[in-house]
Amino acid sequence: ALVSMKDMMIKGKEEGYAIGQFNINNLEFTQAILQAAEEEKSPVILGVSEGAAKYMGGFTTVVHMVKGLMADYNISVPVAIHLDHGSSFEKCKAAIDAGFTSVMIDASHHPLDENIETTKQVVEYAHARGVSVEAELGTVGGQEDDVIADGVIYADAEECVQLVNETGIDCLAPALGSVHGPYKGEPNLGFAEMEDISNRTNMPLVLHGGTGIPVKDVQRAISLGTAKINVNTENQIAATKAIREFLAKDENVYDPRKYLIPARDAIKATVQGKMRDFGSSGKA
Ligand code: G3H
Ligand code: ZN
Repeated sequence: ALVSMKDMMIKGKEEGYAIGQFNINNLEFTQAILQAAEEEKSPVILGVSEGAAKYMGGFTTVVHMVKGLMADYNISVPVAIHLDHGSSFEKCKAAIDAGFTSVMIDASHHPLDENIETTKQVVEYAHARGVSVEAELGTVGGQEDDVIADGVIYADAEECVQLVNETGIDCLAPALGSVHGPYKGEPNLGFAEMEDISNRTNMPLVLHGGTGIPVKDVQRAISLGTAKINVNTENQIAATKAIREFLAKDENVYDPRKYLIPARDAIKATVQGKMRDFGSSGKA
């Protein structure tokens, strides 16, 4: 069923597992992720960046594609369609109006009072329509589409408390050293800060930049209140590798379905592995 991520977050935090947000880039990503969730009996969050939504046609196309696949595939697990790194109130509103069940407002690069103001506006609009809201503080490193950082800035615990108390968000993404895209070396996450922020806000926490985070760090983050982990790059790498291998083996192939099937299989296997790592398998 298509739902907001509110109940998923609460249950995940209570029971000590995290729900994966897997970003969709096209039809095959969406097919693979939905099938992985159904087979794993796992709740799932389909992440849609503004860039990916634009690539696929727009927010409406995304919602219809997801609903169509859920019907054709008889998907019974909880699924949220979530705007990833929403850049403004207007974008969040457009996604909600098109049928997204969850949004992230990322006003983290603005001063705190502006971040709070915009986030509050989004929460008001979203909650009136049963849509959940994620907000961010600090700076996640690296780059994802139009979200580009030139460094990593840790979220400040006091600011997190203020943001949570003044906005009524459903979950919080405090940047604590994670990076979009591949890590250079081992990730170095701020677990002490994570624990502090979790204790002081009592919010389910979100970990961005899930690609390349070792399982032991994933488990530690979950034990400290992380209930959602975002993964995008790892699926892109797996899909592209499968296509490269397929094309290298067969020079004469021209039907895209021939090489997109192995890409889809690779995404599905990657997602299933993550669901097991995150502990969400069997929780739907
Ligand atoms: O918002 C999406 C994520 O934070 C994805 O990060 O591409 O490094 O897995 P990733
Ligand atoms: Zn992110």
